[in-house]
Amino acid sequence: MRVGILTGGGDCPGLNAVIRAVTLALLHADAATEVWGIQRGFWGLMADRLQPLTAASVRDLLDEGGTVLGTHNRADPFAWQGHDASGQALDCLTRHGIDALVVIGGDGSLTIGDRFSRLGVPMVGVPKTIDNDIEHNERSFGFDSAVAVVAEALTRLKTTAQSHQRVMVLETMGRNAGWIALEGGLAGGADAILIPEQPFDLDRLTARLQARVQEQGHALVCVAEGATLSDGTQFWQTGSGVARLGGIGQALTDALAQRLPGTEVRGTLLGHLQRGGAPTAFDRVLSTRFGVAAAQALRDGAFGHTIALQGDRCVRVPLSAVSGRQRRVPLDDPLSDCARVLGALD
Ligand code: F6P
Repeated sequence: MRVGILTGGGDCPGLNAVIRAVTLALLHADAATEVWGIQRGFWGLMADRLQPLTAASVRDLLDEGGTVLGTHNRADPFAWQGHDASGQALDCLTRHGIDALVVIGGDGSLTIGDRFSRLGVPMVGVPKTIDNDIEHNERSFGFDSAVAVVAEALTRLKTTAQSHQRVMVLETMGRNAGWIALEGGLAGGADAILIPEQPFDLDRLTARLQARVQEQGHALVCVAEGATLSDGTQFWQTGSGVARLGGIGQALTDALAQRLPGTEVRGTLLGHLQRGGAPTAFDRVLSTRFGVAAAQALRDGAFGHTIALQGDRCVRVPLSAVSGRQRRVPLDDPLSDCARVLGALD
């Protein structure tokens, strides 16, 4: 069997650990299997960029951040530079005699994977995202690593907030889901956690922070990049990358500085620090489990499925059930309840 592996969408700690686990698991089961890495996600299928993966080339990848295959978050062969280049990608698979494909990606890449799967490409998905927002999957690898960065940042911000008696605002990633801000905010002891799923009221937030500053001299706010105001107004820019420098974290810092006279307010944008670097031990293990489960699914011929974590088990979920969807924080989630009881969430 000749298997192709690609990593699509934004990078994420643990991608290399999945590549390693899939490759080693396939080679251990059948040394005659050939594993080929496709460079920069679906772009590599259109540009015909493949590289061989061997036990020796993947062995040291467990704790390496990023992806050795590279990635591309806008390379959709079905809509590539104004035209449908999916035929080009299919030709590449045929030319190289690839029997099956492992797509390690978020909802965008898994949706593209689903489309290729419907065209008859034998495909197994592995859910990847620091945002933890893939449907039917309780935990994606990379999330724990991102949360650890948020917790560390809040812990550091606390000591400087205490020293200067300031309000500190920390903006996290997460797209339209609040998982990173919620779990990171709890882990870092944030006094206010603002997530997209629970729009916030600026007056109530100001009052809460005033109370915290009175009680303890300082306050920490953890705001998800996708958080919104309950009255629907939006006084910040949205978008990715550079545009986010002027996003909600900055706007909220300015608004709070005006509303809290006598208290200094400072903002921090964590940005891509949440995606870089080595995976945590938890993410190394989860990535390894996902990779081994994907290799097993390939060997079983369970195509058209993605691996997912449900409870403590890796299960197979049809790609069609994941494609085009997003798992957001339910308002009755135990973590939301916990934050609410502590007064950090509305
Ligand atoms: O989906 C992962 C993620 O890091 C989001 O949290 C964030 O909104 C987005 O990707 C950033 O994308 P880019 O790398 O294009 O700036």
